[in-house]
Amino acid sequence: MNTVKTVLELRAAVARARSEGKRIGFVPTMGNLHSGHAALVTKAAQRADFVVASIFVNPLQFGANEDLDKYPRTLAADQEKLLEAGCNLLFAPSVEEMYPGGMSGQTRVSVPQLSEGLCGASRPGHFEGVATVVSKLFNMVQPDLAVFGQKDFQQLAVIRQLVHDLNMPIQIIGEPTVRANDGLALSSRNGFLSEEQRAKAPTLYRSLKQIADAIEQGERDYPKLLAEQNRQIESAGFRGDYLEIRHALTLRPATPEDRDLVILVAAFLGTTRLIDNLHLNLDSPA
Ligand code: PAF
Repeated sequence: MNTVKTVLELRAAVARARSEGKRIGFVPTMGNLHSGHAALVTKAAQRADFVVASIFVNPLQFGANEDLDKYPRTLAADQEKLLEAGCNLLFAPSVEEMYPGGMSGQTRVSVPQLSEGLCGASRPGHFEGVATVVSKLFNMVQPDLAVFGQKDFQQLAVIRQLVHDLNMPIQIIGEPTVRANDGLALSSRNGFLSEEQRAKAPTLYRSLKQIADAIEQGERDYPKLLAEQNRQIESAGFRGDYLEIRHALTLRPATPEDRDLVILVAAFLGTTRLIDNLHLNLDSPA
């Protein structure tokens, strides 16, 4: 696996693979990779002949008081994991390579509606930063397909919409969330948790499952279900950000008649913000 740092080198390597008739798969990341990322690369390697991954901690998607500076940078360990998972080429650009003219004058891509609410409400500008960097990366790599984790459910919806709206010929694949044995969704931010916080963290997934079980059993009083689980989450020591039941495709608030649902949660343990979700399609067999 080669690592390249410039767009020029990236384009040359991808052009070589394409001239050999290879289908290009792409996995954008911010590094500090875990088995969830490895699963994305493995999926890309199953569906494509040449897998490109990127590692770029994108300043444009972090708010002023967020964890940009302390976001872990672990390039050497990440390179090993990518190689093992079947990655062929790593693109690890600098901020200057990605934003040579600085960020204030950078053209932005915004996906209205889907970017509003949920994480978009608590992290203003976040999805504009994601949509902008992903559009740039897509234009640099020009992959046939790209794989994203379903853990970032709203992000995946935003990216599907931008690819559709901007007529990008890229197949977007959503890969199921990888979880620890106790149910906690794997995330680079789990590394910020103390031992005590780590022990409490699986509460989020338990609450999502309890809501899903109740809905499957016919409960449709969503405000009651959410209030009960908000209490559980807060009594485990979290500061809740949101807990919501939405329509899985449009992300608008779910009605009792909707069949394709997603339950989404974001909550803080200390200063660490964790997110998770559970997709529940009442028309699909369990
Ligand atoms: O999910 C992530 O790691 C990031 O938001 C992404 C898609 C790599 C864009 O910076």
